[in-house]
Amino acid sequence: MSIRIAGTGSYVPDKVLTNADLEKMVETSDEWIRTRTGIQERRIAAPDQATSDMAYIAGSRALEMAGVKGEELSAIIVATITPDHVFPGTGCLLQKRFGAPGAFCFDLEAACSGLLYSLEVAYSLMRVNRKYKYVLVCGAEKLSCITDWTDRNTCVLFGDGAGAVLLENVDDDQPGCVLASDLHADGNYGDILLMPAGGSRMPASEESVRERMHSIRMAGKETFKLAVPSMVSASRKVLEEAGVAPSEVKLVIPHQANQRIIHAVAQRLDVPEERVYENISHYGNTSAASIGICLDEVVRNGLIERGDYVLLTAFGGGLTWGALLLKY
Ligand code: ACO
Repeated sequence: MSIRIAGTGSYVPDKVLTNADLEKMVETSDEWIRTRTGIQERRIAAPDQATSDMAYIAGSRALEMAGVKGEELSAIIVATITPDHVFPGTGCLLQKRFGAPGAFCFDLEAACSGLLYSLEVAYSLMRVNRKYKYVLVCGAEKLSCITDWTDRNTCVLFGDGAGAVLLENVDDDQPGCVLASDLHADGNYGDILLMPAGGSRMPASEESVRERMHSIRMAGKETFKLAVPSMVSASRKVLEEAGVAPSEVKLVIPHQANQRIIHAVAQRLDVPEERVYENISHYGNTSAASIGICLDEVVRNGLIERGDYVLLTAFGGGLTWGALLLKY
């Protein structure tokens, strides 16, 4: 009995928004954005393209890689802070499109840590209940629709996209793909990274729209300071629990929030930068989609092989953070 990653998929929209484009929108510069964040460009979804549309393409690619049909899915979990609707859930919308009548579906909201949380939930469910043969986990975001395009502190950071991982319950004696996990949350810091309006605390009103409360608010410096030690501590914990040395890890895939955060985490973990995967320069921060997009790129580009150790670590609103050690 074991659980493996049977397929991965990803999707980013065609439209590229460069730093030069942003220079025309807010008081910023390509130099500031590149040196402070490592971001050069990001992708922006079309106006008629919702989160489920991107998740559907990423998920289809994961199913195709595994040779699995939508009707075979037991469950669909979508990690997102930008669902198509408050309800029905994005997972239910995908169930219809995949033609997966046997799948139960839900959305999971843990901001940038959403994919890690979802993988842990899916993996744990599948271990307890062997009847769940295939579970599709998607991380998908249309952050462009909750970005305040007049706020230079945040609008240069975010992008749109989707990643997907298909987990499969198989009959063999392997230990399974998640060797160790360490997930956390601290609601005391909920107000440093949030979207104030649109929920029951502050429903949409003329004032909430006028005051741009339906977009991401972030205390950047504070978030930065908490992100590095949190990801490092969770990463060390999973390595220790699994008895794996940092030198044995083939690739570290950190959430792509800021290149300086990524490099600080790598340095503290004592992992050389060439073994830390980065695509932030092209996509910016895609929240729950980020690690899924990275994982799919490393699989498709042959950067990891079956049996390799891969360390995932993320940090985001909530606050939420954590790490998973995978054996691919
Ligand atoms: N262009 C030019 N100047 C800018 C810009 C910009 N786009 N944005 C901010 N500045 C200015 C600020 O106004 C400030 O000016 P001041 O000193 O006159 O007030 C100056 O640059 C420095 O600002 P800082 O906030 O100190 O810049 P910092 O080096 O901290 O970088 C950043 C800001 C990039 C946001 C960084 O703090 C960061 O990456 N934080 C973490 C983000 C993160 O990890 N988020 C978690 C996930 S997101 C989620 O869950 C949805």
